[in-house]
Amino acid sequence: MNKERKVIDIQQIKAQEQICARIFEQVTDGGRRPLAMVDTYGCQQNEADSEKIRGYLAEMGYGFTQDEFQADVIVINTCAVREHAEMRVLGNVGALNHSKKNKPQQIIAVCGCMVQQQHMAEKIKKSYPVVDLVFGPHELWRFPELLEQVMTRHKRVFATENSNGAVAEGIPLRRDGKVKAWLSIMYGCNNFCSYCIVPYVRGRERSRLPEDIVREARELVEQGYKDITLLGQNVNSYGKDLDCGVDFSDLIRMINDIPGDFLIRFMTSHPKDATEKLFQTMAACEKCAHHIHLPVQSGSDRILKVMNRNYDSAKYIRQAELARSYMPDLVITTDIIVGFPGETEEDFEDTIRLCEKVRFDAMFTFIYSKRVGTPAASMPDPYTREDKQKHFDRLMEVSNRISAEKHKEYEGKSFRVLVDGETGKDEYNLSSRTNGGRLVHLKGDPALVGQFVKVKITASNTWALYGEIENG
Ligand code: 5AD
Ligand code: SF4
Repeated sequence: MNKERKVIDIQQIKAQEQICARIFEQVTDGGRRPLAMVDTYGCQQNEADSEKIRGYLAEMGYGFTQDEFQADVIVINTCAVREHAEMRVLGNVGALNHSKKNKPQQIIAVCGCMVQQQHMAEKIKKSYPVVDLVFGPHELWRFPELLEQVMTRHKRVFATENSNGAVAEGIPLRRDGKVKAWLSIMYGCNNFCSYCIVPYVRGRERSRLPEDIVREARELVEQGYKDITLLGQNVNSYGKDLDCGVDFSDLIRMINDIPGDFLIRFMTSHPKDATEKLFQTMAACEKCAHHIHLPVQSGSDRILKVMNRNYDSAKYIRQAELARSYMPDLVITTDIIVGFPGETEEDFEDTIRLCEKVRFDAMFTFIYSKRVGTPAASMPDPYTREDKQKHFDRLMEVSNRISAEKHKEYEGKSFRVLVDGETGKDEYNLSSRTNGGRLVHLKGDPALVGQFVKVKITASNTWALYGEIENG
């Protein structure tokens, strides 16, 4: 095992839980029920982190609210991947002046990737005095200790030390839903794609031990969860830091062996590490969803090289074909960045060509956003925002057309779907997902939430399918 692997052991988490108990005594004094609000930006990993923050807050006696004027504690869990998300966070944090004026004892915490960047932590220190506590992803495991410092010392606390990161087991979790669950299998990223801030703020790849993951998956199945998503920035390199002979495919098999009717999903996969063994495993494991989110980022070999992605478009296309040869019904989704520094008309046409060739079921498209400290931030970027927007709009058109065409192919056919929630609408009151993760709107009894049902697809558009529940 990697000697540098840093583990926050269970005793350290127990010590945090004792702090939770102390805070409980203090904040529930006189039988009062204090309230907390946790607001999450960004990716699924952040959603999973917020479930830990809520877990700790619940142990401290807090109930939950969405109303900042009611909250005694507000935690904003931030994202740093693009500037737009940071601007939204700063705007919303600034607006909390009003709630704090109303409730001067209110504690406001900002955590997550954005504040792990030192210039952002500084900005909050200087320009947002309303914020009492700032902590990065590496300090999340000791949130109770940090919160207690704010409560007892009445001083602002900043905990954003740079770190390669650790693995912490045993943090209490309060999950959002009853049907779908996030399960983090690893943290951090080693890839250093030239545009991406993630490796700088989330540290190096650290895998959780297979036995800890399988135990958590078994608990989820026993609690009735039907849709488990294994999370990591690059799940395909799971286990490489452990040297324990279990790779990502082996992990899928171990979870597939847990008795029960449930689905295994995962994200995100890096094309440089997706192997034939993975596709074989996905095809062989009956609980593994036939969906892969495989971000291509660009179809231009020149751009892929400067992005430091370590594959070319031909390799990507071969992988998609190989994966579909094992699973003809495989849903492939992707991420694409438009307007990477120096991306020319020709580079962009290569991306369009790749999309027409692979025919993604859905694409998540982003305009390049400059991130301080990444190599791409100092690359020449002569094209205007308007040029980039034009490309972005054109790519969206291609993406929407292909998604609509792919969805059309579902019409008239029957599929097993998992009903995952109510929509609040009359006509189609239930939402569900196919095995491949496509959204299906249905009409039916709300008691079906959490159950697998068979549906016939009757209509579709770019974004969703519409179906009728079949009897028997
Ligand atoms: N600008 C735009 N998009 C980015 N992504 C990551 N970094 C940036 C950036 N600097 C996109 C990538 C990644 C997704 C999560 O966000 O497409 O796959
Ligand atoms: Fe960022 Fe690349 Fe790591 Fe994904 S694989 S988190 S894009 S550095």
